[in-house]
Amino acid sequence: MNTDQVVRTFIEYFEERGHRRITGSTLLPSPGDPVLFTTSGMHPLTPYLEGRPHPQGRRLVNVQRCLRTTDLDEVGDPTHLTVFEMLGTWSLGDYEGSLSLGWAYELLTEGLGVDPGLLQATVYGGDDRVGPDTASLRLWQERGVPVELTVEDNWWFNGPVGPCGPDSEIFLWSGEGPPRSTPTRDDRWVEVWNHVMMRHRRLEDGSLVPLPQRNVDTGLGLERLVSLLQGRTSVFDCDVFDPWRRLLPAVWPLDEPSFRLVCDHLRSAVVVLGDGVRPAGTGRGYVLRRLVRRLLTVLWRDDPSRSLEDLPDELVGHTLDRFRQDVGPGGVRRELLAEEQRFAGLLRRGRQVLARPRFRGPLTDDDFRYLHDTHGLPRELVVSLRQE
Ligand code: ALA
Repeated sequence: MNTDQVVRTFIEYFEERGHRRITGSTLLPSPGDPVLFTTSGMHPLTPYLEGRPHPQGRRLVNVQRCLRTTDLDEVGDPTHLTVFEMLGTWSLGDYEGSLSLGWAYELLTEGLGVDPGLLQATVYGGDDRVGPDTASLRLWQERGVPVELTVEDNWWFNGPVGPCGPDSEIFLWSGEGPPRSTPTRDDRWVEVWNHVMMRHRRLEDGSLVPLPQRNVDTGLGLERLVSLLQGRTSVFDCDVFDPWRRLLPAVWPLDEPSFRLVCDHLRSAVVVLGDGVRPAGTGRGYVLRRLVRRLLTVLWRDDPSRSLEDLPDELVGHTLDRFRQDVGPGGVRRELLAEEQRFAGLLRRGRQVLARPRFRGPLTDDDFRYLHDTHGLPRELVVSLRQE
């Protein structure tokens, strides 16, 4: 199955069970939200999880683009992408978590052909505030799926305050041979689908109060699942990356770790630009700037004459289409090139300034402040230029 077929199978399965498909939102949370980017499918639905009636009803399904910068340092490993798609389902005070887990088991094994012997689940084991999630435990025992109980790893929240609750995570074995050990002890267990029994709200002081309704919030990482279904060893090898594998090496021959970083960051930068963010020194624009500068640093390490001018149009267009963004590739390319020129100019200036005798020895905080305030050179950049 290719990625689009997996999405269709998922959506139809839940539509047949009374869910309405809602349009995913952009990567930009609504005004007033302290979080920079949409990090999960539930994020734009927060008011409805907290009790506001949703115009489409109590059972929802969608595909949501998400961006997680917490994982930026893990980029390049087999399972993390900065921007990815999440398939999600919600029961807004309607059915209970065990029904949702039963559907997930049926869809994975019968609908998507996963071998049941390659599944394992984790379940919330309980602490002195919230008891163990016995309903989820029972469901998995009935299905014959091995379960590991944890406490911290099975409590999901989206921020320091707001809706949260115990979760049950479904893992798929990605190793050679039969599954071994448990998800917390062997990272060849890859988490593919999380079910949060979202019944609590955490307040500023850390205390928990019940939400007005018992929700179920689920999220499935699309590229992760597809790569496992396609028998690939990393997300960068699933069909979403076929055009990248076909076109990029002819333009920029890169080793595998560099290829992964460049693809991940370029794809993320295109999607962020497609949602209207522009490079800047703070906030969302700064995340975008870091993505572009990190990928340029990798491209220029082997060959300083490389330029995003050579980025094939098809890759920009393919990414915007994949994320259903209604903007032309021309504007996105122009922004990428403008940022490349700004960065190149900054590097030129930085090298000239740092060559002055005053900056030969160790740099003080005053030096860093002067370089930043007078020459626009961020500390991070100064440090990396001095390592050249
Ligand atoms: N909101 C949950 C997650 O993102 C489903 O894992």
